[in-house]
Amino acid sequence: MKISIFGLGYVGAVSLACLARDGHEVIGVDIDPTKLDLIREGKTPVVEEGMVDLMQATVASGRVTVTTDVVAAVLASDISLVCVGTPSALNGSQDQGAVLRLAESVGMALREKAEPHVVVFRSTLVPGTVEETLRPIIEAVSGKKDGEGFHLCFQPEFLREGSSIRDYDKPPFTVVGANHDYPIERLQQLFGHLPCKFLRTSVRSAEMMKYCCNNFHALKITFANETARLCEALGVNPFEVMDLVCQDTQLNISRAYLRPGYAFGGSCLPKDLRATTYLAKTHDVDIPMLAGIMASNRSHVELSITKLLETGKRKIGFVGLSFKTGTDDLRESPLVALAEQLVGKGIQLSIYDPEVHLSRLLGANRRFIEQHVPHLGALMKPHLADVVAESEVLVVGLATAEIFKTLAETVKPGQYVLDLVGLPADLKLQGEVEGLCW
Ligand SMILES: NC(=O)c1ccc[n+]([C@@H]2O[C@H](COP(=O)([O-])OP(=O)(O)OC[C@H]3O[C@@H](n4cnc5c(N)ncnc54)[C@H](O)[C@@H]3O)[C@@H](O)[C@H]2O)c1
Repeated sequence: MKISIFGLGYVGAVSLACLARDGHEVIGVDIDPTKLDLIREGKTPVVEEGMVDLMQATVASGRVTVTTDVVAAVLASDISLVCVGTPSALNGSQDQGAVLRLAESVGMALREKAEPHVVVFRSTLVPGTVEETLRPIIEAVSGKKDGEGFHLCFQPEFLREGSSIRDYDKPPFTVVGANHDYPIERLQQLFGHLPCKFLRTSVRSAEMMKYCCNNFHALKITFANETARLCEALGVNPFEVMDLVCQDTQLNISRAYLRPGYAFGGSCLPKDLRATTYLAKTHDVDIPMLAGIMASNRSHVELSITKLLETGKRKIGFVGLSFKTGTDDLRESPLVALAEQLVGKGIQLSIYDPEVHLSRLLGANRRFIEQHVPHLGALMKPHLADVVAESEVLVVGLATAEIFKTLAETVKPGQYVLDLVGLPADLKLQGEVEGLCW
């Protein structure tokens, strides 16, 4: 394939070298003449393991050319990879100057091009940039439509400096956000041979997931470092601890706890986080991330309170009261906190939770309810259908097949349903369903 690459920094230079190595004809474009001169001489513009030899070999193969001429590069290629920098501006926003200027130049080039051309944005871009900012620029300047005269897509880059050639050859996955099949097919030709999944998604999800990946990496490093600071103060070996933590691939290094939903609660996480934070405080150890978790969790509950009060309705039915599906444990349940706030505002509540109801009948949870939440215990109903019938608004905090079935049968048009659990996409309810933040 004939490929033009815009921006020959870490991402662009490594892509140029690897694509040329794999037999493609690559045209590199940069505004920095020093980088172009280095590449012409077969030298690498970035310091990366393996790049000195790879650049020498690929430039000698004759498959690499470089230029500052955007129009010429677009006209002479089938596909363009945009890898220009998107650094932080002073206020923390993304400085999109380079990618905006480039979009204009690419638009001008496309105006002159008759054949279909694929433009792949590989720079990290805040969600919405391709569809709301770059596409309008390219369409306006080129006079053509995305999907007709040219094809835009977004493919996040996952290589890491220091191991970028190895990462290029073995990425965690290939993700492409596109609205049409054509760019997907072309990128499959380019990257389909790599030993990883090739995933297609929307442009916005692809843009966002790149931020999620980097934020998750930053979160993991900070977690390990805060843990280490606390370990040191307690005379514990942090390497031993983190190694053990990582050996749990069921709950720790896994998909567990990564599905969006409601706030956490229960008898363990809140109390243990509080004890950890207190321990750190008494040892003069600063752990701002761990100490901030409870506040973040509370803001999730506050969001649900705001949403429910905004409806202006006074009769609210709760589907669920315990802290998660499958338990009768009410200790630190966010649903209890939510219910108490609403009762305090004079809202008329009715509550269905089969596990709590049963344990109350058996006496197991009766003492807790009578001591801690007697006012909520009195609002409990044995049948979900009754709760649905007497409520203007429903809060779904439990997820079982039986509950979904009853909701499908009983919810009426005009009822508002606040979904805290991520109801199945194929569950069709008559009312107006809104996710907490989805
Ligand atoms: N560095 C990484 O490890 C890495 C990994 C994944 C994603 N990314 C993302 O990829 C993008 C590029 O990162 P990088 O580290 O390679 O950047 P970089 O700063 O090393 O290189 C960017 C290059 O773009 C060139 N450039 C600027 N304006 C241009 C224009 N109008 N036309 C042509 N070239 C132009 C610059 O001269 C520079 O050589 C960023 O969005 C970054 O967030 C980087």
